[in-house]
Amino acid sequence: LTSAAAMSRNLVLTGTFIHTPSKTKLEVLTNTAVFVENGVITSIMPATSSLPSTHHHIASPEGSFFFPGFIDTHIHASQYPNSGIFGTSTLLDWLKKYTFPLERSLADPVKARQVYSRVLQRTLANGTTTASYFATIDVDTTNLLADLALETGQRAFIGRNCMDQESPADYVDPTPEASVERTQRVVEHCRKIDPEGKLIRPIVTPRFAPTCSAKSLRGLGDLAEKEDLHIQTHLSENKPECEWVAQLFEGSKSYAHVYDDAKLLTPKTVLAHVVHVSDEEVKLLAERKSGVAHCPVSNNALGSGCCGVKRLMRAGVKVGLGTDVSGGYSCSVLENVRQATLVSSLVALQDGSKGEEEKLTFIEALWLATRGGAEVMGLEDKVGGFEVGKEFDAQLVGLGTVEGKVKDSAVDVFGWEDWEEKTAKWVYRGDERNTLKVWVAGREVYSK
Ligand code: GUN
Ligand code: FE
Repeated sequence: LTSAAAMSRNLVLTGTFIHTPSKTKLEVLTNTAVFVENGVITSIMPATSSLPSTHHHIASPEGSFFFPGFIDTHIHASQYPNSGIFGTSTLLDWLKKYTFPLERSLADPVKARQVYSRVLQRTLANGTTTASYFATIDVDTTNLLADLALETGQRAFIGRNCMDQESPADYVDPTPEASVERTQRVVEHCRKIDPEGKLIRPIVTPRFAPTCSAKSLRGLGDLAEKEDLHIQTHLSENKPECEWVAQLFEGSKSYAHVYDDAKLLTPKTVLAHVVHVSDEEVKLLAERKSGVAHCPVSNNALGSGCCGVKRLMRAGVKVGLGTDVSGGYSCSVLENVRQATLVSSLVALQDGSKGEEEKLTFIEALWLATRGGAEVMGLEDKVGGFEVGKEFDAQLVGLGTVEGKVKDSAVDVFGWEDWEEKTAKWVYRGDERNTLKVWVAGREVYSK
């Protein structure tokens, strides 16, 4: 783009826009024009034939539509090379066998650059406009992830993994103080490269209770409070983990209370998994306004269990979706939308469930992938849908079939489907081949 309009990032996009203004509503705006100035949506109106020359014009091709960018509330950037490699392991052996050795090896900046560049490219190609990343325990390469994310233009939360106990001897913070001080260095770096936190923000990241001493948890809780930081960790992913936490933290009332006792449950906290929790713990998460990253692909792959997300939502807990690469073998949020609905059907069959009430529709799952994730990350005023005042974080989705010929897509469209049916086909048959272009804050960050 060379024109003045393009330079100032003034856009007018025309065509079909689909989003989820509420949990149960798929809104389809056809023949619509969305104006974007300096990354922000300034007006939405019926498309007319005369468009201002001050704005660079992008039209959705016939049969394609704009959809809000996906928000991946939980992904381990460092584990990306292990996507698909997990065998028949479950969480605790998986960490030892596959995960810690790979993470440790990423202290090598050449390898880290290779891996982090790839995961950024591939998540953007899958329509992820915001991601909350776990990196490794290494400060310098975690800072490199922040630099690379800023360069690619993805909106990213950058977390250095804190672990100061029950960890491999060659992959561990030496003291609780080191966990805090090393985290501070990443916070400072993120604030240096993006002082207003427009795209890049630091996130305090105690890996999970077993690998964190009570003292380090407390220090990280203090740091998050003092600096008003986001926090992310794992909670109650699998049963042996929960039993281990009960043994290690005898003084705490429950696993959720281990974090609460360290002031780590805040409105800016993201808890991954939350599969095996008591009603009391669910109530505590709702009271603290903490959010949950639901990771169905990971929970299925590692056999962790079926998370009853509707139960969490009924209790007023904020929920978004997470790919949890590489516990999850796919970095696609769309794949997690699909599996969130499938898992919910199984939850509906479990003893003690409320049956039909446990089921997520594909529309609700798309809501989780966009607005739900925005709420979890505290970005609900900025992203997640098409509204005046929100930033333009979006993907252009094409279904890829033309005149009956399969064209680089697994989706078959015959032409008589309505937009809701087309969207459902995208959810169940689509993949990154259907993501044609991606924008973050009005900047084109990916084009197929
Ligand atoms: N619990 C502690 N660390 C991890 C991790 O890296 N992945 C998952 N899925 N769970 C964890
Ligand atoms: Fe995880």
